[in-house]
Amino acid sequence: MPTRVLKLGERLVDLDDRTLIRDGVETRLSAREAALLRYLVARPGVVIPRATLLVEVWGYAPHVRSRAVDATVARLRQKIEDDRENPAHLLTVHGAGYRFLIEPSANGARPCLPPARRRVVGRSPDVQALVEALDTSRLVTVVGPPGVGKSVVCEALVRSLSERQLEGGVWICRCAEVSSEAELLAAVAGGLQLELGPGFTLSSARDSLGRTLVERGDVVLILDDFDRSIPFVASLARWLDLAPRARVVVTSRERLRLRGERVYALRPLDETVGRGLFCALADDLGISVEVPEHHVVDDIVRALDGLPLAIELAAARLSVLDPPELLRRLEHRFAVLRSHRLEDCDRHASLQRCFDWSWDVLSASERRALMQCTALHTPFTLAEAEAVLDLEEPVVDVLQSLLDRSLLTQTGRPRSFWMLETTRAYVAQYVRDDEPQEGRCRSARSEQL
Ligand SMILES: Nc1ncnc2c1ncn2[C@@H]1O[C@H](COP(=O)(O)OP(=O)(O)O)[C@@H](O)[C@H]1O
Ligand SMILES: [Mg+2]
Repeated sequence: MPTRVLKLGERLVDLDDRTLIRDGVETRLSAREAALLRYLVARPGVVIPRATLLVEVWGYAPHVRSRAVDATVARLRQKIEDDRENPAHLLTVHGAGYRFLIEPSANGARPCLPPARRRVVGRSPDVQALVEALDTSRLVTVVGPPGVGKSVVCEALVRSLSERQLEGGVWICRCAEVSSEAELLAAVAGGLQLELGPGFTLSSARDSLGRTLVERGDVVLILDDFDRSIPFVASLARWLDLAPRARVVVTSRERLRLRGERVYALRPLDETVGRGLFCALADDLGISVEVPEHHVVDDIVRALDGLPLAIELAAARLSVLDPPELLRRLEHRFAVLRSHRLEDCDRHASLQRCFDWSWDVLSASERRALMQCTALHTPFTLAEAEAVLDLEEPVVDVLQSLLDRSLLTQTGRPRSFWMLETTRAYVAQYVRDDEPQEGRCRSARSEQL
């Protein structure tokens, strides 16, 4: 059998040989210490109760009480930790058990804390509202159009929740690339820092993730970019039933329609915050936007509906276009709003692609409704839409579905529908290719007027 050597910081641990080497000095591990370490190393990030360790590592009968685990953990810490009072690898989870981290995080306590990505402008009120929503709801879905900042807000939420030192931790799972249930389970396992192991079955993986959530107790799971995972949402419903103390935050363009779900609609940035983001991004390029130009920037932000992704892509053009020229060219926004940065992931490389993603999943009626809606001035009411839209399905159903998919929004007046300028411009491209549709709506509208 190959020797199992583990690197813990400056130390090399040979689990088979039960030796530990640091700076050329060798220390021995007792058989029990090595057995405990081997057990923990196989389950990184998982909170393991003392009682489980007594059964699985010590071989005691269930319900036997003993201080053996704490004593062995204390000795092991002396050998593997730089500071045993403030361990980086073998953590105590108060009231729950122990958790082992192979790679300690920067603060030694939260393995899931995402690296501070880009700056976050505004959004403190949203983060605060989400923290409060989680006090009363176990499932919160952050919905909004592509590029509105759902993922950014969730990262800020992780940082905010991490300060609360939850017993089970906060774990973020990236689900953007998921296209099958197996991939979703692997993404969740990855976020929870679990190995599913080769040859896992869907049901064994589902059960094992459920058990992990139960074991972690007061845990928050963040499922980011869940849009493509919605067909597999039953797994999530099951975990919520299984693990009564687990709470979940999901980001998606669409709500999940699960029992007990609380929907948080993330709005675009307001004009002042949007201007702040634009100017900060200009600053990154070494371009300062002078105060007299602020009104043009405000017009740009307004034309882009305060959508942070659009603002980001627009500001990137400042090295070749001055703000007035940029504003003029926004008429053809999809040509302007493309990224030239290599590191941008495909999905956000252009505004066009972001919206393609949403468009591709629409039904024929939903597409037709959107095309016809471009002829309406927003906000419009249901009655106005019903008078104008010519669809095979009830208008109320189609509008509800477009609202759920974040392609229409509701701002200000309740029960009135709003279409972002960017959505309108996107859909208008299809209207041009589909003149009869537009004509049908227009004629209906003129009859109405
Ligand atoms: N509040 C914000 N401050 C700075 N940049 C932001 C903010 N919100 C979003 N962005 C930027 O806009 C882009 C889209 O944000 P993201 O959170 O990925 O959107 P979504 O998840 O809603 O599709 C990202 O590149 C992100 O850096
Ligand atoms: Mg996202």
